Amino acid sequence: MCGIVGYVGRRQAAPILLEGLKKLEYRGYDSAGIAVIEKHSFEVMKRAGSVEGLSAAKNFLGRTGIGHTRWATHGTPTEENAHPHIYGRIALVHNGIIENMKPLKEECLKRGESFTSETDTEIVAHLLDGYYEGDLLAALQKTAARLVGSFALAALSLEEPGKIALARRASPLVVGRGEDGTYLASDIPAIAAEGMEIYALGENEFALLDGKSAHFYAEDGREIEKKPLEYSLEEDVPEKKGFRHFMRKEMSEIPLSIANTQQIIQSYPKIFELREVLCHAEYIHIVACGTAYHSGLCAKIAIEARARIPVEVAVASEYRYRDPVIQRNTVVIAVSQSGETADTLAAAELAKRSGATLLAVTNVRYSSLARLADFVLFTAAGREIAVAATKSFNAQLVLLYALAEELASAKGRGACGAELLSLPLLAKDALAASEEVRAWTPHFLGAKSVFFLGRGADHCAALEGSLKLKEISYLPSEGYPAGELKHGTLALIEKGTPVVAILTSSRLAEKTMNAVHETYARGAKVFLVTSLPEYRKRGEILSSVLIPDIGETYSPVLSVIPLQALAYYVAVARGNDPDKPRNLAKSVTVE
Ligand code: AGP
Repeated sequence: MCGIVGYVGRRQAAPILLEGLKKLEYRGYDSAGIAVIEKHSFEVMKRAGSVEGLSAAKNFLGRTGIGHTRWATHGTPTEENAHPHIYGRIALVHNGIIENMKPLKEECLKRGESFTSETDTEIVAHLLDGYYEGDLLAALQKTAARLVGSFALAALSLEEPGKIALARRASPLVVGRGEDGTYLASDIPAIAAEGMEIYALGENEFALLDGKSAHFYAEDGREIEKKPLEYSLEEDVPEKKGFRHFMRKEMSEIPLSIANTQQIIQSYPKIFELREVLCHAEYIHIVACGTAYHSGLCAKIAIEARARIPVEVAVASEYRYRDPVIQRNTVVIAVSQSGETADTLAAAELAKRSGATLLAVTNVRYSSLARLADFVLFTAAGREIAVAATKSFNAQLVLLYALAEELASAKGRGACGAELLSLPLLAKDALAASEEVRAWTPHFLGAKSVFFLGRGADHCAALEGSLKLKEISYLPSEGYPAGELKHGTLALIEKGTPVVAILTSSRLAEKTMNAVHETYARGAKVFLVTSLPEYRKRGEILSSVLIPDIGETYSPVLSVIPLQALAYYVAVARGNDPDKPRNLAKSVTVE
């Protein structure tokens, strides 16, 4: 899982590659590298760590080059394992995973070849050099036919200095044709510029780029014509705007992100067709990963409560390898901030192949998921840079809740949800109240484990609060259904264990409080996020935050805000960078 970029044309390649790589760091940032062809040899720079470490490479003079920012799959994040991998006449960058690397490596070793890295990609460079007989594209076609797994590959040969060959299977890859040359990247924003034509490589397709043109080929070698994609340039340049971290700045944008997203459904150009599909929907599957999966869980509660349609929510990496029952009139909703998550894309493809209507909920307009779906609803959260999703989660919830209301009205269950309209203002209040959790931080710093408890929608918020804390503070944590704790997990509670209870349902409050008593009795320090002021004074509660009340069904959109803030403050107090947590990447583009 990584980002790749390339350029061939009239300009010096290195600054273009470095600029593109910075924009691709959301796909991985544990090592980076570039290679350009200069005077019939490769100029290469690779570094462990982020793209910033490559700044000295901006003086490389070559006009053909490739670059890579890495999230380690095979091999530790070291300089040796960073891409590009150079072998013989070949330089290669790769996004994906080669699953048959073992037999391929043995084949190379038998030929007496030796390796300098632990990566699967280096093996591909060996194969490519082996097949190379003066035609880079032909060699890449032969190489790709030997590979099992996923790849977006960009290759250079010293013998064809003005060319870049590309291959794609299950990892995204786009090509840009500009005034001054031809570009490639894992996504559009990394290369998009005024007047550039952008093309997406399809599954198992190849391309050959030179400074003036791009030629595209199908798997069988036939040259194919492609239409440029429709896209518009992104206006917003991500800045911290006075905040110390992007995560905090993005949290401050939650009210705006909610307000902008609320407009989306009503102004959706295909709303009548979508309503028609929703009207006939008998089953809904929601597929997603991580935080987006938690949005799906929240949406299930809302859709089932409001529209009485059965909803299955599945982790995409499980769904794609199951044999899910997809019946007539099943709508599959794929939720993904980035629209590039490999497992979500695979689950969405499976749903489409099986005849379901595919509705994408994504924050990225020209993403792979947006291009795949029958219907696309965009969350208007704006660019999210921090790895920990915050405002995009709130936006996903608002959009999915609006969809629940659409479904309810399509099923003749009456219009409701008026309370949703006041959400931007209520989110502002919740943000202000969340500052109180800063005082909770010392109780969490050295914790062996942390528990987030809730029932119903509060349990969904608990799951998200726990994920956020794990992801950026590195503290072990669990989000748990409050009533389930006593069936085993209670054994983990000891003196001083922090427990955060979420309480927004007056119907379920006393039931959740049972779990609070049980943990308190065993020495836990209990913190409370609630919309029910009467519970703040209970003796078991060490400290609490009061959020506005919007009823239990839609409550996670507000109750998650103090939990996001808690994760942020604990992470910062522990000296972590919440924007770039260890081992993670913003977008997970391998399975
Ligand atoms: C959230 O904080 C995480 N970074 C992660 O769980 C993320 O939500 C997940 O990888 C899915 O990403 P997507 O929404 O871009 O598909």
